[in-house]
Amino acid sequence: MTAPLHVAITGAAGQIGYAMTFRIASGEVFGPHRPVVLHLIEVPPVMPALDGVHMELDDCAFPTLAGVEKHDSDHLEQAFAHCNWVLLVGSVPRKQGMERSDLIRINGPIFTNTGKAINASAAKDVRVVVVGNPCNTNCLIAMSHAPDVPKNRWFAMTRLDQNRALAQLAQKSNRPVAAVTNLAIWGNHSSTQYPDFVNAKIDGRPATEVISDHAWLKGDFISTVQQRGAAVIKARGASSAASAANACLDTVKSIITPTPSGSCASIAVYTDGKYGIDAGLMCGLPISSDGENWRVLDGFHIDDFSRSAIQITVDELKQERDTVKDLLP
Ligand code: LMR
Repeated sequence: MTAPLHVAITGAAGQIGYAMTFRIASGEVFGPHRPVVLHLIEVPPVMPALDGVHMELDDCAFPTLAGVEKHDSDHLEQAFAHCNWVLLVGSVPRKQGMERSDLIRINGPIFTNTGKAINASAAKDVRVVVVGNPCNTNCLIAMSHAPDVPKNRWFAMTRLDQNRALAQLAQKSNRPVAAVTNLAIWGNHSSTQYPDFVNAKIDGRPATEVISDHAWLKGDFISTVQQRGAAVIKARGASSAASAANACLDTVKSIITPTPSGSCASIAVYTDGKYGIDAGLMCGLPISSDGENWRVLDGFHIDDFSRSAIQITVDELKQERDTVKDLLP
């Protein structure tokens, strides 16, 4: 067995955190030979529930679980000490009738202290995935308060949108989800995001060839993916939890596992101007990893339809950044 990885999860007793914790402890994410120490973090009133999560972790007797630390969110520096991965789940979730951007002034300030604490105490190789909404801009806030952590170690979650889009294309074409590849989500994890059917493939062929109903691709497909979070909230009376947890873990796996050739992972990362997207945003892009390092994939075809869809979501990211400019040093 190698040295344990330290993995912090904020909001660890919440619905998403609860769904994630056991899968990480089981070895599913980092492998059966990589022990993990979980740093479970909650707001002070929820600490008793965290004791319950800890009991259940003990009761699973996972061979890969090398330790559990519980921390309250008033002591984030201690909580993130030596962490190699920080999964920022904890935040106020949106309720029916709200847009994710409505949360920006509620959740944004939390991420300033979070960024400072990561900068102060996390491991030198720390990587951070932000799930709490609005995740792109929360990530930007935290990152900007952690000047010592390189910008390529910060990620916000558009994988839930990618998975939703994969499922929609698979169902429409009557093919298994594994047949759908190269599906990028551009922009914000919000109702403006652009699920890119133009570059998507089904059984290695352009999705636009396999699915002849282009009106559906340009219409219902996009709006279904964009509105899926709201649809889940309406149906469940609570925002997505198991699928969000799954997408967070998929994000981590995509970063640490080589991306199959001809495919991509969709993750929001810090922009540098590629594809004509403004620099300095956390924007969903097509990513490829070699298991150690990742890069934004070249060669995605951006037609006029895609260009204007991408511009709408990038404009929203710029607007969100302006709304929190007092939180950005
Ligand atoms: C989702 O997409 O389901 C989550 O980000 C929750 C939400 O507010 O939509």
